[in-house]
Amino acid sequence: MIKYLSILCVTLHLNTMAANVNPRVCIIGAGIAGLTSARYLKEEGIHFNVLEATKYIGGTWRYEQRVGNDEYGLPIHTSMYKHLRTNLPKATMELHGFPIPKEYPSFPTREMFYDYIKAYAKYYDVEKYIKLLHNVMHVRRVENKWKVKYKHIPSETEYEEDYDFVIVGSGHHSKPNYPNIEGENLFKGTIIHSHDYRVPDPYKHRKVLIVGAGPSGMDISLDVAEVSKTLVHSHHSKVNFRTPFPSHYIQKPDIKKFNETGVIFVDGTFEEIDDVIYCTGYQYDYPFIHESSGLTISPHSVTPLYKYMVNINQPSMIFMGLVVRACLVVALDAQARYTTALIKGNFTLPSQKEMLNEWQHSVDVLRSNGRPLSHIHLLAEKEDQYYEELTKQSGIDRVPPVMFKIRALDTQAKLDNLYTYRNYVYTVIDNENFVRNLETESSSKKNNGTAI
Ligand SMILES: Cc1cc2nc3c(=O)[nH]c(=O)nc-3n(C[C@H](O)[C@H](O)[C@H](O)COP(=O)(O)OP(=O)(O)OC[C@H]3O[C@@H](n4cnc5c(N)ncnc54)[C@H](O)[C@@H]3O)c2cc1C
Ligand SMILES: *[C@@H]1O[C@H](CO)[C@@H](O)[C@H](O)[C@H]1NC(C)=O
Ligand SMILES: *[C@@H]1O[C@H](CO)[C@@H](O)[C@H](O)[C@H]1NC(C)=O
Ligand SMILES: *[C@@H]1O[C@H](CO)[C@@H](O)[C@H](O)[C@H]1NC(C)=O
Repeated sequence: MIKYLSILCVTLHLNTMAANVNPRVCIIGAGIAGLTSARYLKEEGIHFNVLEATKYIGGTWRYEQRVGNDEYGLPIHTSMYKHLRTNLPKATMELHGFPIPKEYPSFPTREMFYDYIKAYAKYYDVEKYIKLLHNVMHVRRVENKWKVKYKHIPSETEYEEDYDFVIVGSGHHSKPNYPNIEGENLFKGTIIHSHDYRVPDPYKHRKVLIVGAGPSGMDISLDVAEVSKTLVHSHHSKVNFRTPFPSHYIQKPDIKKFNETGVIFVDGTFEEIDDVIYCTGYQYDYPFIHESSGLTISPHSVTPLYKYMVNINQPSMIFMGLVVRACLVVALDAQARYTTALIKGNFTLPSQKEMLNEWQHSVDVLRSNGRPLSHIHLLAEKEDQYYEELTKQSGIDRVPPVMFKIRALDTQAKLDNLYTYRNYVYTVIDNENFVRNLETESSSKKNNGTAI
């Protein structure tokens, strides 16, 4: 009898472990999330595929002049604009073990950073694992597998495959979050979202309204203000921007309503407006994720996630990059290493109950501070502690504290002056320390045509 029981136990044990023996991993998207995951899984000899809907790797970093739909009728994914330079110093955007070229300026242009991503994919030889033009349509949990349905776009051939793990790296800066403002339909001017902003040229000598004061709102305001007649900036940010804005830059509170020729603001003032650019952020959008995932996905939150990435209800599904206010590239890279260590079996997750408790605690903290659930994705001042926790649990190399320190000083520099913060060079000395200098003309290749 005793012998019989022990055999039964062994069998049960093997069954529950089955997912970890030669696991098959599906990576959705070939942006930074997908490419870093591919590199690390490859290094561990784990079987994986990368499914990428577009013809290209690099995700949002690949500039595309077109807006709207592509030649296959799919929405253009990228939100990149022509004059973009990174809004973080290159030291905080470096992928693990792959230095950003020394000759790059402190805040590289988008072309430079895209070239860097392409060089990474080539160096780690991951392109052969990527199925381009393969759009993931459906991810469903059936018994103990993920059934992934995807389509080769040009031929419309559909496939369905079983996977043990799914890494969701489809990005979340693609689906515009439009505000719903009264009278918008009356307005005779143009309205776009920053997702579709490419160049300032159409705004030459025009009266332009920018809505929103997040990173895109600030950056695009300065880009457009270079050419526009006036730049009306409507927002409710409480941030104390000390930038010396030009005289044709006018700050306004939130919009009350549109009429045919312009906008009435909540303070009752009116401005005549030709064109509007909504820099009102993006929505989480995972149309392919079936409810069997056990997740609650709303436009502004994905819950419940452990460590900002593991689907607590089905812990073999991992979401990459769902952190706000962080060195996103570095965070993605650390998440890819954590995920690989998890799949490799280097560590095991806490029980579902423990993960849920930890998550519930962070929700309770938000609620008691009167903050919305969307803030569940905010890292901000918790960023360095997060890296510490990931390392402690999984054994991955720690993202050094110097990253967060640089980001903090850069944030200050942005508050001081959005025109000049990119003139600083941040040089990492060691894991804790860095120096900051002013970039000299000779050490920098200034981006031609940028507003900064
Ligand atoms: C305008 C802009 C400027 C930014 N500037 C900076 C910066 O200066 N510094 C910084 O650190 N971060 C910046 N970011 C953040 C940026 O999102 C990250 O740097 C990083 O590129 C995110 O990578 P990702 O792989 O998560 O997503 P993405 O780059 O969005 O890649 C997702 C990929 O998934 C694919 N995909 C989507 N759905 C499917 C599907 N159903 N099936 C198959 N494939 C799919 C997409 O085609 C895409 O290739 C910026 C973002 C934007 C939008
Ligand atoms: C829009 O509203 C403003 C302010 O009330 C007004 O001056 C302007 O004439 C209105 N435009 C039209 C076309 O009604
Ligand atoms: C997993 O552990 C092994 C042995 O300690 C280590 O060599 C490897 O780098 C780890 N993998 C990851 C992704 O952390
Ligand atoms: C900017 O572009 C102009 C014209 O294309 C060129 O003459 C000039 O040298 C460029 N400046 C820099 C700093 O690259």
